[in-house]
Parts: sequence; C-alpha cells; structure tokens
Amino acid sequence: MCGIVGFVGREEAAPILLEGLRQMEYRGYDSAGIAVRSPEKGLQVKKSKGRLQALADLTHNGTDVSGCLGIGHTRWATHGEPNDINAHPHVSENGAIALVHNGIIENYLEIKEQLARQGVSFASDTDTEVVAQLLEFHYNECGSMLEAVGRVLRRIEGSYAFGIICSDYPNALIAARKDSPLILGYGENGNFIASDVTAIIKHTRDVAYMNDGEIAVLTENSIDVFDSEMTPLEKEHSFIEWDVTAAEKCGYPHFMFKEILEQPEAVRKTISPRIRDGRIVLDDISLTAEYAENISHIYMIACGSAFYAGSVAKYVWEQLLRRPVEVVLASEFRYSDPLVDENTLVIAISQSGETLDTMAALREAKRLGGRTLAVCNVVGSSIAREADDVLYTWAGPEIAVATSKGYSTQLAALDLIGLYLADLLGSVSREEYDEILTELQVLPEKMQQYLEHYEETQYYASLYFNHDSIFFIGRNLDFAMGLEGSLKLKEISYIHSEAYASGELKHGTISLIEPGTLVVALGTHGPLFDKAMSNVVEVKARGATVLAVTTEGFREKMEKTADAVIAVPETHRLLQPSLGIVPLQLFAYYVALQRGCDIDKPRNLAKSVTVE
Ligand code: AGP
Repeated sequence: MCGIVGFVGREEAAPILLEGLRQMEYRGYDSAGIAVRSPEKGLQVKKSKGRLQALADLTHNGTDVSGCLGIGHTRWATHGEPNDINAHPHVSENGAIALVHNGIIENYLEIKEQLARQGVSFASDTDTEVVAQLLEFHYNECGSMLEAVGRVLRRIEGSYAFGIICSDYPNALIAARKDSPLILGYGENGNFIASDVTAIIKHTRDVAYMNDGEIAVLTENSIDVFDSEMTPLEKEHSFIEWDVTAAEKCGYPHFMFKEILEQPEAVRKTISPRIRDGRIVLDDISLTAEYAENISHIYMIACGSAFYAGSVAKYVWEQLLRRPVEVVLASEFRYSDPLVDENTLVIAISQSGETLDTMAALREAKRLGGRTLAVCNVVGSSIAREADDVLYTWAGPEIAVATSKGYSTQLAALDLIGLYLADLLGSVSREEYDEILTELQVLPEKMQQYLEHYEETQYYASLYFNHDSIFFIGRNLDFAMGLEGSLKLKEISYIHSEAYASGELKHGTISLIEPGTLVVALGTHGPLFDKAMSNVVEVKARGATVLAVTTEGFREKMEKTADAVIAVPETHRLLQPSLGIVPLQLFAYYVALQRGCDIDKPRNLAKSVTVE
C-alpha cells in the first residue's frame, strides 16, 4: 500500500526520494509524487499517475527538482481515483505546505465542509488534501508549524503517518504517526523518515520506530521527538540487521522465485537459534508453565496466508496440546464480540506486522484481557510492539506481494511454539518431542532436497496453465495446506480456484467436477493417505484430471491413479505441510509465468494491507 519517504540533509533530496520510492514499489501503488524545497526555487511538487518511471521521466530522474529537503509518496488509491491530482504530496491553498500521508482520515468530509464554508477550495478528492488545508488554516492562526500540527492532530480522526514540509521552515521536516508505521532514520549526511525500512536501508541502518501520537522534527543534524503533549522524548535506536541485497532481486527473474528458493535458509534461521541441547528455548517469550496450565482457549488471528498458516497450526497444536484452538480471520474477530478473558491466549500472525485488521483484532483481544503473542517478520512493526510477547520469524525482507518464505517461517515458528507449550504442559511424550524436534531441524535440508528437483512441477504447470478453474482437495493438514496453495494460484495467476476438504465433496461441491476439470489432490498426510486416494478415484470417475502432491513414500501408489504426481520428501506427519507447500508455490509461480502475469505485483493487491 502507500509508501512514504522523506529526507533533510546535505545532499540533493530528489534522487534519494525516487530511489526510496523505488524500493517500496513492491508494496503496490498507482501514482507517485515528490515535493522538494530549495532556497532558490521554493517548494517544487511533481506527481504522476502510474509507474514510478513516469515520475522519474517527468523530473529527469530528479535532476529538475533541486533542494536538500523533501518528501515522497507512492499512493494506493482509497479516496478518489488514481490520477495526477489525487497523487501525493498535497499542497495547501497558498502553496506553502506540502504533505504526504498513509492511512485514512475518517472525519475528512466534515472538516472539508467546514473549511469550504470559510472559502477554502479543494483541488483533489482526497482526505489527505483536507489535512494540508487544515494545517494552513491553523498555521495562519497560530504562526507556529509545530503548534499547527498539534492542533490538526487533535482535530482529525483515523489513521495516519505524515511527512510535512513548509516553505517557511527551509531546514525542517515534520513527521507524525497514529496506526500507520513510520520510521526515523539517522544518517551521516542527513536524516530520514520512511514508512518501510527498505526505502532508507541504502543510507542508514540506524533507526527508531515512531509510536502512536508522536511528532518528530528532523533537521540535517538532529531528530527531536515529542509526545502528543509536546513533551520531548528520548527514542531508543534499533539497528537493522539485514543488508541491502536482501531486498534486491540479485539476478532472479522475480522476487517471488528468489523468495521461494530462500525458504530453507529462512526456516533454518527461524528454528536453529531457538534449539539448544535438544530443547526448545524461547528466550523471546515469557509464557510460563503456570500460565500454560491455565490456558482455557487459544485463538489464532490473522489474514490471508497468515490465516492459512494458523489453519495448519490449529491441527498441529490441537494434536500436541489437546486444547481447543480456534483460527479466526482478524477482520471477523474484531467485530464478533469474541470470548476472551485472562485465560485466553491469542496468537496474532502477521508477516508485515502492520496489517490493520490483525492489529485491530490484537487490540480487541488485549482490551478484553487476553494474553497476546505475535508471530511477526518485521522487527519493530506495530503488531510486534503491541503484543505482550513476540516471536520473530527470521525470513528477512519479503518483497513479492505473494508470500512464500513469510508463510513457511510462520509454519516453522508456530510448530516451535506449539511444541514448546506442549512440553510445558507435559502433553507430548519425550519420544514424540524428540522426534518432532529432530525433524524440525532437518526441514531446511528436506526443503532444499525438493528445490533441487522441481522441474516436474514446472513441467506440469506448462501442461495445465490454461485451465479456468482449479480445485485443491485434501483432508486434515492437507486441507489447510490446500487453502494456501489455492490462494497462491489465484492471487498471482488470476485463475479461479477453491480448496475443499475432500470429505465435503459429496456434500455438494463434487457437482462442479466435469470432464477435464483440474483437481490438485493433496495426499501428503500419511494417516489419511488411503482416504485421499479414494477421493482421487472419486473425482477421476467424474472425468477430472488429477495432479497429485504426495510424499516420496506414496508416489508409486499415487501414480497408479492420478494423471500426474509430484512428490516431496517425508517428515513427521505434523510438519509435512512445510514441505508440501513448496510445489504448490512453484506450481502457482510457473502457471502465472506461462500466463504472462505480473508475478511480483499482482493486480489490485498490496503487500501490506494497512486499511480496513
Ligand atoms: C499472501 O500471499 C497475501 N499477499 C496476503 O494474503 C497476506 O498474507 C495477508 O495480507 C496478511 O499479511 P501479513 O502477514 O503481513 O499480516
């Protein structure tokens, strides 16, 4: 979704802003713009609909726009269509104030009407322009920009991250945040703001995360941060561990392909540091055996693929903990008056740590007194900081909109936590604990093993890419894994796809199977393999073409019935989805490739969904 970058320092701002926006392209956007101030030219604003390249062309790669203070933005339209006028930055009527905004101002219409009655005219349809005009209004009233920002923040409702510059303040950049991420970057040649660390990582790894209600004033030599009462605050600095290449394609055709191949390493990084002397050690989280004993109910809340990772984990945890686990879509949880009390453990799963629905669901769980634990990939993200505990997945930056290593590391992290809790509760035998732990540690090798021979998956994608509708069927863990496989396919290849629990077929959905329908039959879950086979026979009898995914051990049996078979190495039955998902990701990838889709930036989708 929208991206913000800002710079004040001793270098030309425009190239820094354009490069920062380029690094955030993966988030999804439909227009882009920059505003730069120079002593000679004053405030210069350039905006363009479409790809960032259009803005780069318009400004001759930034050379037409001079000055060492500036803000930039990539917009993902919410209020008003994507066009040059609605693109950010928005400028106040007298042209002195420019502002970029992520988030949504909920009471903008009311403020707009009030300002219009006072004679202010508006150029765009956006909620953001209203803030720029309101800022000018208060600035004219009080004569201090900082005071005017404070007044505006008290008046507006909704979510925001702002970057603001003003002609009267040639050396200052003002930033503010509520419910939308904003990072402060401390550089050698100046200071930065960014909504995403990728935008500034080339310049600095020394950052601080703004909290809700904070306002920051940046100059080339300093960053001063205030709370909503304008009391100065000391910010804790964080160091970004990963380097620039982690967020670059490095010769791979797509980020998604690179990230699929990075899975063994990402899973290893998530698991290995947390296993010592044959035991799971979760220093990061503070769950005690006493607390675990009192857990009466466990919720997993998440969206999209993270929800599907939770769907796999539900089966795993219920097996291991023998306690009820409910996986609820975060967007439903927040409005469902959920049954949460102090004995409820709520696991919020989010790669980005910024998904608004998951954030809101987490807050609701906390408000009701539940204990919250976040499984997040982005250090310092909002969900990670608000949860009582956080366990990071060490996947590194994930750039492709369709998650792969984000999902795999979520599975690994949830397996770890589940096994850890089962050990605290004594609900797993020592033998099984050891067996699962051993298999967890060799998962990366087994993933790698499959990844070295994935050509058959590529081949089957070339056979089946022109189907209009593809069904995934499976039972138990295979069903949960199929949900993610189906989502991968639809989000990047735009093929209609559904995942069904195989046992449900005869309760209605089998009517959709007709000669030639492609069914991806998942039979990796050993205990239910025979049932999976029966379902293959069932759909074959109705004329379906069956592509089966199973384990090496079952390959031969499956080949007798299915039209095509992909096999992955075997592991503990509870961990099998971590291997089974890899061919499904690659199948989706190659199908999308055959269909000429924009794999890393699928239509209508954004990497992190920070609006409701
Ligand atoms: C996955 O491929 C999707 N792009 C999407 O479903 C994603 O998993 C979902 O939006 C949740 O994101 P999060 O993990 O960052 O919270």
